[in-house]
Amino acid sequence: MKSSSTLDVLVIGGNGRVGASTLHWLNRLAGRSGGDQPLRLAIGGRSRANFDAVKRRLHLPELVFRPVDLEGGSESLISVVRGAQLVVHTAGPFQGRSEPDLLRACIAAGVPYCDVCDEFALSRQAKTLSGEAAAAGIPAVVSCGIWPGVSALMAARAVERLGGSEACERVELSFFTAGTGGAGPTIVSATFLLLASRVLTYVNGALTYKQPWTERRSIDFGPGVGKHACFLLDNPDVPTTVESLGVANCASRFGTAPGVWNSLFAAIKLLPSDWLLNRAAMQGLAVVSMPVIRVVDKLVGATNAMRVDADGKAVAGSDKPETVTLRCVHADLEDCVGQATAAFALEILRGRSDLSCSDPTIPAGVWYPSELQANARNNILQVARENALVWEM
Ligand SMILES: NC(=O)c1ccc[n+]([C@@H]2O[C@H](COP(=O)([O-])OP(=O)(O)OC[C@H]3O[C@@H](n4cnc5c(N)ncnc54)[C@H](OP(=O)(O)O)[C@@H]3O)[C@@H](O)[C@H]2O)c1
Repeated sequence: MKSSSTLDVLVIGGNGRVGASTLHWLNRLAGRSGGDQPLRLAIGGRSRANFDAVKRRLHLPELVFRPVDLEGGSESLISVVRGAQLVVHTAGPFQGRSEPDLLRACIAAGVPYCDVCDEFALSRQAKTLSGEAAAAGIPAVVSCGIWPGVSALMAARAVERLGGSEACERVELSFFTAGTGGAGPTIVSATFLLLASRVLTYVNGALTYKQPWTERRSIDFGPGVGKHACFLLDNPDVPTTVESLGVANCASRFGTAPGVWNSLFAAIKLLPSDWLLNRAAMQGLAVVSMPVIRVVDKLVGATNAMRVDADGKAVAGSDKPETVTLRCVHADLEDCVGQATAAFALEILRGRSDLSCSDPTIPAGVWYPSELQANARNNILQVARENALVWEM
């Protein structure tokens, strides 16, 4: 039976790879805290069969299924989230969606919220609801996860290390994932969709759109990972870093392995953009590609590596501006994205259970990760550090 201090957490998209990993980590982290935040976990999704399979895989006998379709309209969304203490939204792809319907439903029902949205237009739209969320007393964090998410916290830390935005000339974000990192078809289709999207960069304070999969750079991700070719790819960390940290120059690059995958992406980019932007077609292409992708993943592993470089401004009398480089590597993308998402989720819950001794660190409103206060950012990074193969912060 549910005790008064039990917190109901609903993961919409929990049937998928990212959502299931988030549930695994929510269960693992909450159990470890000595029971001061017992969680009752539920999955919101369309497929009961997928739920049954995930429940078996996660060994969570108490896991509950709540049928929901994100396309089902606001009333059905409000009724599914009502009563939860937190909703985590991992039901991608986010590309092609323009309205934060689930966040709206959470605000209407008075439920805190976070998502793993990797589409800036949608996260920005969510941000416009910040006043409504604040008025309703609802904390919400958008674009959580490992990247975007922890990567934005790394950017905030790097800028802080340099002495703040006044001292920072540029922030460069770089990411490497071996294969698909064991991801689901949605991440693969999201990457295809990104290959048709202009890349949002900032040059001397000006928003500058660039072609995806251009401006190749060889990036050193540190011990065990080494150097990899990376190319411009759109990432909400760029505008959120610029908006919240006041940085004038920022761009994000991505590379994968084996090298032939990079060439394949370059070839896919040449497909007609109306085809690449067709969500159904890209999801279909991702699903049929999965058997090949899984074989390659087995061969190359699922490493996720992130690097943030923050360059200081030139100082008169000094030869070289200071540079701060932060690195973070985990063995498995699917695992670490769930770990990071659970870290954000638990931070939202902090101080909100009857038994919790701590105060909330994330106030009501809608926040990008890099906007969070230092104590919230540090708590999340502390969780993300666990199992890291490289942690240079
Ligand atoms: N921020 C980060 O660090 C980060 C990292 C990696 C990925 N991502 C994002 O995470 C998202 C999920 O990736 P994934 O690999 O977990 O995908 P996935 O395995 O394909 O799972 C997606 C899940 O979403 C659910 N879903 C889709 N449309 C829905 C709808 N209309 N209503 C209800 N549920 C719906 C599906 O549930 P059913 O099974 O019930 O149909 C499915 O299980 C992607 O968009 C990806 O871009 C973010």
